[in-house]
Amino acid sequence: MALDVSVATRDGEILVPVQQRPAPPCVIVIFGASGDLTHRKLIPALFDLFQSGLLSKHFAVLGFSRSPLSNEDFRRTARDGLEHFAAGDNISEQAWQEFSSCLHYTAGQFDEPGSYHTLRERLEKIDAAHGTQGNRVFYLATPPELFKVISAQLGDAKLNQRRDEHGFVRLVIEKPFGVDLETALELNKSVQSVFQEHQVYRIDHYLGKETVQNLLAFRLANGIFEPIWNRNFVDHVQLTVAETVGVERRGGYYDEIGAFRDVVENHMLQLLSIVAMEPPVVFEAEPVRDEKLKVLKALRRIPPEQVGEYTLRGQYTSGKVAGQPVSSYRGEEKVAPGSWTETFVVMRLQIDNWRWAGTPFYLRHGKRLPTRATEIAIQFKRAPQMFFPGEERLEPNVLAMRIQPDEGISLRFGAKVPGPTMQLQEVDMNFLYGSSFGPNAVASDAYERLLLDAMLGDRTLFTRADEVEEAWKWAEDIQEGWSQRPNNVQFYPAGTWGPSWADAFIERDGRQWRRP
Ligand code: BG6
Repeated sequence: MALDVSVATRDGEILVPVQQRPAPPCVIVIFGASGDLTHRKLIPALFDLFQSGLLSKHFAVLGFSRSPLSNEDFRRTARDGLEHFAAGDNISEQAWQEFSSCLHYTAGQFDEPGSYHTLRERLEKIDAAHGTQGNRVFYLATPPELFKVISAQLGDAKLNQRRDEHGFVRLVIEKPFGVDLETALELNKSVQSVFQEHQVYRIDHYLGKETVQNLLAFRLANGIFEPIWNRNFVDHVQLTVAETVGVERRGGYYDEIGAFRDVVENHMLQLLSIVAMEPPVVFEAEPVRDEKLKVLKALRRIPPEQVGEYTLRGQYTSGKVAGQPVSSYRGEEKVAPGSWTETFVVMRLQIDNWRWAGTPFYLRHGKRLPTRATEIAIQFKRAPQMFFPGEERLEPNVLAMRIQPDEGISLRFGAKVPGPTMQLQEVDMNFLYGSSFGPNAVASDAYERLLLDAMLGDRTLFTRADEVEEAWKWAEDIQEGWSQRPNNVQFYPAGTWGPSWADAFIERDGRQWRRP
């Protein structure tokens, strides 16, 4: 069945009718069902899909975790999650009643074969009651140290594949996919000893963001940008993921991981590979992922002894964000008082291929910065000849793709200021999602799209094993270089744009950071 989902403009006019398939019958088994991710993200996303008519009528959730909850307890916590993290008062009681009747729960030990035996029995009963036809999506919303044991147990219990040729069994894994090359290889190996790669869906939630998918549309559906999307026209590219939040309640985890492994090595490399990749032969999962992989392979490795030249780390001290005093990183709960973990990173990267040779990609990510902004800025080269007074002070053309917030794309160019003299000023041509597609155009969470795609079997927006491995291979030298000088981390007051050296880092190349 095809469902008509339409996009409305600001004034309610229907603009783009989209054919959207609802998911096929299936049970989503959530391991770690009593945890944060389930309540904050997964249940709200599933409920939204349900309300939009995008789930099958033959759908159920089976929560699995150690906590001894009843179905009713699980439904109650799911409802709490919805009220706190989703549509809030938009919850239709009728929809909730129908949806919650599809929520089930079973308590078990992740490493105990008996629990998987019980799981199998519950799944068979759910199939009979909901008509879910033996299709399964196993979602690992647990701490990463449990990924291997759960997938091995699923294999031992023969829950990793169907006995017949029809339908599907899939495994969804959340980052982190390892903490370095060795652990990533180990994780891939153990998962792939149980599931075939086509069954595995590795989530990088950045890929589920509407604005990130639009990067693909922008590049591949508009003929005018492709001819200038290369080293001949682009001076450099700046990727920024700036956050105002600190480490929140994750101090213990973050202190082991740091900003590089938390955001740069995964989310930012994914953004980079979409911006830099070649057009795929067809827009399908494998060709798209092949092209992204090629970018990762072409990323120049930074030898350990040169990390000081190409990277800079920072850590926030106390300061003010949005007028509110905030503590230093070292003062955060569960962070070691003398920690040297980085909360800020800048890097200068090179992609060694014909398209990008000689065009630097600057990456900047940090916590407790003044503004929340994820942006990709393509900075073009200057016009070859200057005609007008003051033109040299004009900012060169910039195409800024704002991933969040203030979602949209703008193109900056020079224009004559009206008046009797030939005076120039930068102006912006601006596309805003809110104005073109309505105020809620990008409101749906990345998890909605990713969960739907996992049920539909579309792997385009998921990370393949070889991408994960290639990213870690590149990261290895940097980690090695940093480990040789662990204290080489500059401090910056919370609420500023990182250590003062971050400016010098890019200015020595004759360039400047944008201030989104
Ligand atoms: C997560 C990181 O993967 O991404 C967090 O672990 C980070 O530290 C978050 O804050 C950023 O995601 P978003 O969607 O808020 O940009």
